[in-house]
Amino acid sequence: MNAQALLTQLYDTPETDILEQINALKAELGERVLILGHHYQREEVFAFADASGDSLKLAQTAARTNAPHIIFCGVHFMAEMADILTADEQCVILPDPAAGCSMADMADDEQIERCWRELSGVISPDECVTPVTYINSTAALKAFCGEHGGIVCTSGNARRILEWSWERREKILFFPDQHLGENTALAMGMTDEDMIVWNPALPLGGNTPAAIEKARLILWKGFCSVHQLFKAEHADTMRRNHPGIRILAHPECSREVCEAADFVGSTEAIIRHVAEAQSGQDFAIATELNLVNRLRLQYPDKPVWFLSPMVCMCSTMFRTDPQHLCASLLAIRDGQPINRISVPRQQKRWARLALERMLNAS
Ligand code: 13P
Ligand code: SF4
Repeated sequence: MNAQALLTQLYDTPETDILEQINALKAELGERVLILGHHYQREEVFAFADASGDSLKLAQTAARTNAPHIIFCGVHFMAEMADILTADEQCVILPDPAAGCSMADMADDEQIERCWRELSGVISPDECVTPVTYINSTAALKAFCGEHGGIVCTSGNARRILEWSWERREKILFFPDQHLGENTALAMGMTDEDMIVWNPALPLGGNTPAAIEKARLILWKGFCSVHQLFKAEHADTMRRNHPGIRILAHPECSREVCEAADFVGSTEAIIRHVAEAQSGQDFAIATELNLVNRLRLQYPDKPVWFLSPMVCMCSTMFRTDPQHLCASLLAIRDGQPINRISVPRQQKRWARLALERMLNAS
C-alpha cells in the first residue's frame, strides 16, 4: 500500500485505535526507533516522544543516538539537522514531509550567495564576516556557513554563538531571523548603531556602503509568522489585569515584546523558568500555543496565560498528527520506511561542520 492510501485508511480508523496501534508498534519496534518531539507538537503526538526538547537539546540527542530509525516530530529543518548529525545508515523520518517552517523559507542559498557577492563589493566577507545561521534554515544555508568559517545557532545558545563569531571576525551576517539576532545582540550591550537590516529584495540589502562598513551585525529581514503575532500591548494588558505576573517571551518575538518581558529564552529555558518558580506565581507566555497549554496543565499551582488574545499556533508543527506518526511506524515495521529526509552528501559535509562548531561551542 502506498503512503497516501495508508493514510486514508488511518483517517477512517477511530483515533483511540490509532493511539493503541502506536503504543503496540513502539513496543514491537523497541530500540529500532527513536521518536523525537519538539515542544510545539500537539499533545497526542508529544506523548509518544522518547525524547523531547528545544532545537538545541534535540540536536544534541540526535548527535548521540545509535537508533537505526529516528522519527522527528517537528519540522523539516529539524529532520534535516538530525540527518546531518547521524550516520548515513541511520534513517531520519519526518512523518509529514509538508511540515516546513515559514521562517526557514525566508532565506535560500541563492539569496545568501547574492548577499555575500554584494558584500564583496564593499568589504572582504571571507576575512571579516562570520555567517551565522539560525538552526531554522535549510541544510544548504548550514553548508554555506560551514564552508565560509561560519556556524549554526539556536535560540538556546545564540549569545554564546555570537560571542564565538565576534571572537573570530569583526562582523556577523545573521540569517534568517532578524529578531533572534537583534534581541540577543541588544542583551549583549549592542545598540542600533552596531546593526543594519539586510532586505534581500533591495540592492545592498537597502544599505549604503558606509553603513555596511560600520555595521558589526547584519540582520537578515526574516521572521516567524507565529511569534510576530505577539505585541507589546498584550504585555501591558496582562500587567494591568494581573499585577505581579511574570511575562516570558521567546526571542523570535519582536524587540518590543522582548523589552516588555521579564524573561526572554528558548522553549527549554521558558519551561525551566516556570518549573523553578514558586507556587502561586503566575505567568503570561509569548510562544507557541501547544507548549503554553502543556505548561498550564503541568503546573496547576502556577497559573499560566497565553500572552496574545489571538491563537498563535505553528500550523506546520500541527501537521504531524497521530495518523502520520502511525503510518511512519507501520512503514518501518514493514521494512519500507516512508518520508525519509536525506541531505545530499556534499551539503551534509559542510553543514555538519557548522553544526559541530555549534555543539562544541555550546
Ligand atoms: P527552540 O529553539 O526554542 O526550540 O525554537 C525553535 C522554533 O522553531 C521556535 O519557533
Ligand atoms: Fe518556524 Fe515559527 Fe513554526 Fe518555529 S514557530 S517552526 S520558527 S514557523
